[in-house]
Amino acid sequence: MEGSGRPTQHEGAAQQDTSLTRRGVLGIFGAAGAGALVSTFTGPPGVGPVSLVSEAAPEVLVQRGSGWVGAALSRIDGPLKVRGMARFAAEFALDDMVYAALVFSTIAKGRIATLDTGAAEAAPGFVLVMTHRNAPRMQPMVPFGPNEKAAGNDNLPIMQDDRVRWNGQPIAVVLAETQEQADHAASLIRVTYEAEPATTSFAQAKANGTEGAVYFHHEIGDAEAELAAAAVSVDATYRTPYQNHNAIEPHAVTVAWHGDELVVHDASQSVVHNAWSLAHILGIEERQVHVTSPYVGGAFGGKFMGSHQVLAAAAARLAGRPVRLTLSREGVYRMVGGRALTEQRMAIGARRDGRFDAIIHTGTATHTRDSPHPEAFPFVSLSAYATGSLKTDLQWAFLDQVANAAMRAPGEAVGSFALESAVDEVAVALGMDPIELRIRNEPKTDPLNGAEFSSRNVVKAWRDGAERFGWAKRNPIPGAVRKGEWLVGMGCGTASHIYNRENGGAARLTLTSDGTVTVDIATHDAGMGTETAQTQIIAENLALHPDQVEFRLADSAMPGLVAGRGSSQTTTVAATVVEAKKMLVAELLTLIRADSPLAGLTAQQVGPRNAGLAKLDDPTRHETYTAILTRAKRDKVTVEASPDEPTEMNERSMHSYGAMFCEVRVNAVTGETRVSRMLGSMDCGRVINPKTAASQFRGGMIMAMGLALTEHTHYDERTGRIMNPSLAEYHIPVHLDVPEIDVIWTGIPDPHAPMGARGIGELSVTGTAAAIANAIYNATGKRIRELPITLDKLM
Ligand code: MOS
Repeated sequence: MEGSGRPTQHEGAAQQDTSLTRRGVLGIFGAAGAGALVSTFTGPPGVGPVSLVSEAAPEVLVQRGSGWVGAALSRIDGPLKVRGMARFAAEFALDDMVYAALVFSTIAKGRIATLDTGAAEAAPGFVLVMTHRNAPRMQPMVPFGPNEKAAGNDNLPIMQDDRVRWNGQPIAVVLAETQEQADHAASLIRVTYEAEPATTSFAQAKANGTEGAVYFHHEIGDAEAELAAAAVSVDATYRTPYQNHNAIEPHAVTVAWHGDELVVHDASQSVVHNAWSLAHILGIEERQVHVTSPYVGGAFGGKFMGSHQVLAAAAARLAGRPVRLTLSREGVYRMVGGRALTEQRMAIGARRDGRFDAIIHTGTATHTRDSPHPEAFPFVSLSAYATGSLKTDLQWAFLDQVANAAMRAPGEAVGSFALESAVDEVAVALGMDPIELRIRNEPKTDPLNGAEFSSRNVVKAWRDGAERFGWAKRNPIPGAVRKGEWLVGMGCGTASHIYNRENGGAARLTLTSDGTVTVDIATHDAGMGTETAQTQIIAENLALHPDQVEFRLADSAMPGLVAGRGSSQTTTVAATVVEAKKMLVAELLTLIRADSPLAGLTAQQVGPRNAGLAKLDDPTRHETYTAILTRAKRDKVTVEASPDEPTEMNERSMHSYGAMFCEVRVNAVTGETRVSRMLGSMDCGRVINPKTAASQFRGGMIMAMGLALTEHTHYDERTGRIMNPSLAEYHIPVHLDVPEIDVIWTGIPDPHAPMGARGIGELSVTGTAAAIANAIYNATGKRIRELPITLDKLM
């Protein structure tokens, strides 16, 4: 790489000419993007979406004026990423920058008694050590809650006192000239503690007394009595372990003070929230903090506001130099929570014909005081099935540990394991096909409140999926199919995830006389394809080619309060873009001159067409954007738009759904499970980009493989210490573990969602773990109700 003039993955981007914008990249690779137009695409009938490519030239596409929504456009940021030119948070090399290393507490609760930094200060390259003794005075973190810009996972002070509140809490930041020197100096710090009794075991936490989460307590009818009287019932305990975030990019931040202004290169799914949070915590004005985060190597709920950004900013202020702070993989485990531990009672009572008379989903999850993220597993049972009676309840057992974080479909991922396993158990007890049992209990309206579903086609998803997966070939008798040493089984489960649209959507749209448009929204792309999908939505709405659209995001100076969370960004931004289109059309009409073909027309009579505006019922009356602006002697037109409040969520029951299928092989000798086939048959409204959507679905299903089979944070209940904070001992699925994953969808647009699209980011991590567990039951006859399903549980 040296001397080649090409950037290296790590540092090169910092020196790279940034004039190569994303739009420029799309231009270079435009042929691939344009060729991918499939305007009538409604789901991959027989092949993967990638191959659904037409060869139409870009001009033809512009002539049509629309059709980009639904096209399998390749990722706009892809070329930059594969060439190492996408600069991530830890790749900003600033002048005079120093590197940070953290020291973590090794007790769960108590006080720091002695803290000896002498050896560290004498180490080579040492610059500064920050502890509670010299850290600037700061406000505590503000957790998600009533303040709409708060995005912390706890409300704790950050390095403000000698108290230790969890095992792994950062207690010192060491700055040095290189990362290696910082790591070495940090290793020389000696700490002693006055430990206090801490609650670090689940049993102790339960014995201390749990508290109910009011929002998740529901009772319809007398579910206990209905269960007792049911002809067939299942009543069992399902357990899921602690799990941790393992995004490919560990958390990182590079910060610099320019006088009283703080510039933050972050890895974040909440840039505006983080700017507000940093300002609040540091005691400065929001406008003094500028957070950007254009590229994020996975977030999944783990990259909202954290204490590492605060520590970096405070240490940079003390040192008077820019600071790069990257969490080690271990650091992510110590400082960022994950899924809570759950112990769920799941009970279903059914009639002989399969209809459910009782669903009970109650139990306990670990929690910390003042954490805003409940692991709300019963949530998934509220809207799933028609039932005569329903009871849900969530109890919190409080521990002294790092606050758990949101982690891809929090609550629903682990709750659907219990629910969809139990449905399978009922099917076995009834001798009924589990898909038919689900369809028999399909609700006509939301079981909780009788609300209409906005669009629910999960039965079609089941029928289409069963056909495609070859479900009819499944032998319902457990353990009946054997190939050599391998027991083969099939299983399924329903995926569901609630629809969300954020209230803070806002965008600035600038149309330039060269016919290009720039849209600024402080939204995020943590690898989901936000930028690509939104470029398509803008192109479609303004009748432009994607090459004429630049979508800029993840900058706290931009409009919008849109965290990348809750599978809500696509709908939030789509609603904003639709509103911006209306404003733009109105604005352009004020510029129309008497000699224009559009003269005399009203906003109701015209719409975007072919890179300009046209009369809706007479497209020959057309003028390009360039012509309109040129005649009016304007370089550009800018509008700022905010959509209406997301009332659709209150008026109807809105969810995305999926029918998840899995085939496993379980080794009869070793107990090892191998997933051999998976299919996700999704019902998520309109799919904006089949390529990025399919990747989202596959990613969720792979994450669910980890949930089902391998992921397990080993938490030492004596000390509160995480024992396996590394990818060597915390096992996530790797390429060799992952089979071909097939994905289809109903493609039925939701009439009540912007652009007809519901959320997809979290959907497929639900239902899938149960599908795997149910397949293992079908293969072996062993019902494992505790994740992960490791070979010791099968032997
Ligand atoms: Mo998500 S778990 O709302 O990032």
